[in-house]
Amino acid sequence: MTSTVLITGAGIGIGRATAKAFGRAGAHVLVTDVLTAEGEAVAAEIVSGGGRASFHALDVRSTEMVDAIFAHAEATLGGVDTVVANAGIAHRVPIETMTDALWDHTLDIDLKGVLRVFRRAVPGMRARGAGTMVALSSIMGIAYGWDEHVHYSAAKAGVVGLVRAMAVELASQGIRVNGIAPGYIRTAQLLSEEHSLGAAGAEAAPAFIPMGRLGEPEDIADVILFLASEAARYVTGQVIAVDGGLLVGRY
Ligand SMILES: NC(=O)c1ccc[n+]([C@@H]2O[C@H](COP(=O)([O-])OP(=O)(O)OC[C@H]3O[C@@H](n4cnc5c(N)ncnc54)[C@H](O)[C@@H]3O)[C@@H](O)[C@H]2O)c1
Repeated sequence: MTSTVLITGAGIGIGRATAKAFGRAGAHVLVTDVLTAEGEAVAAEIVSGGGRASFHALDVRSTEMVDAIFAHAEATLGGVDTVVANAGIAHRVPIETMTDALWDHTLDIDLKGVLRVFRRAVPGMRARGAGTMVALSSIMGIAYGWDEHVHYSAAKAGVVGLVRAMAVELASQGIRVNGIAPGYIRTAQLLSEEHSLGAAGAEAAPAFIPMGRLGEPEDIADVILFLASEAARYVTGQVIAVDGGLLVGRY
C-alpha cells in the first residue's frame, strides 16, 4: 500500500490499532490525537517496525488544526488518500443534567469532528479522482439507545446520516464513504467505571455476545482496513456493525 492515511484519536484504543494495521499494510500513517505522548509512541512503534508514520497534534474541534495537517500532507506527501474519523468521547450524563454545553461538547467531537476531517479531505480526493473515508459510529447509534448517553447516541446516529449523504454526494468522483458500528470493544472508553461498562460490566458482557467475547481493537481495525481497500471498491454509504453477533443475537 503506497497511500497516506490520516487517523484521528490514534494514540490509544481502536485508533491506535488502526494506525498499526495501516502501518503494517505499508501506508504512510498520519497519527493524530490530543494525547501527544501516546500518539508519538504509536508513530514510533510503526516506524521501528519498518513502516512510515508521523505524529501530529490534532483536536478535532479545531478546523484550523485540521486545515494545517492537510496542508502539510498535501505539501509533503501528495495528499491524504484515506481518512479515518475515529476520535470520540462517551460521557455519562443523565438527561436532567444534560446542559446545552455538555450536549455541544460531545456533538462537537463525535459528529462535527467527523465533518471537519472528511470535509477537508474532499478537494484533494476530488482532484485525484479517488479516496476513502471511514467514520466510527456505534451500535448505540445504529440500533440501541444508551441510557444516560443521549448526546452520544444522537451523535453516533448522526454519523450514519453524514456517511450516507457524503457517500451519495461523492460517489461519482471516486470517493467512498463508509462507517463502522463497533459493539463492545476492550478499550479505555468501555472500561471507564464512570462513563461506560467498567471492569465488572466488561466481564459480564460476553454472556450475551453470541461470539462469547468482547471485541478487541484489532477486530475493528481490520474491518476499517478492508473498507479503505480496493477489496471494498463497490461499497459506499454503509455502516457495518462489528459486534460479535450482538445485534442479531437474543438475550
Ligand atoms: N470501545 C467501544 O466499545 C466502542 C464502541 C462503539 C464505538 N466506539 C467508538 O470508537 C471510537 C474509538 O473509541 P475507543 O474505544 O478506542 O476510545 P478511547 O477512549 O480508547 O480512544 C478515543 C480516542 O479519541 C481521542 N480524542 C478524544 N477527544 C478528542 C478530540 N477532541 N480530538 C482528537 N482526539 C480526541 C482520545 O484522545 C483517544 O485517543 C470512538 O469514536 C468511540 O465512540 C467505541
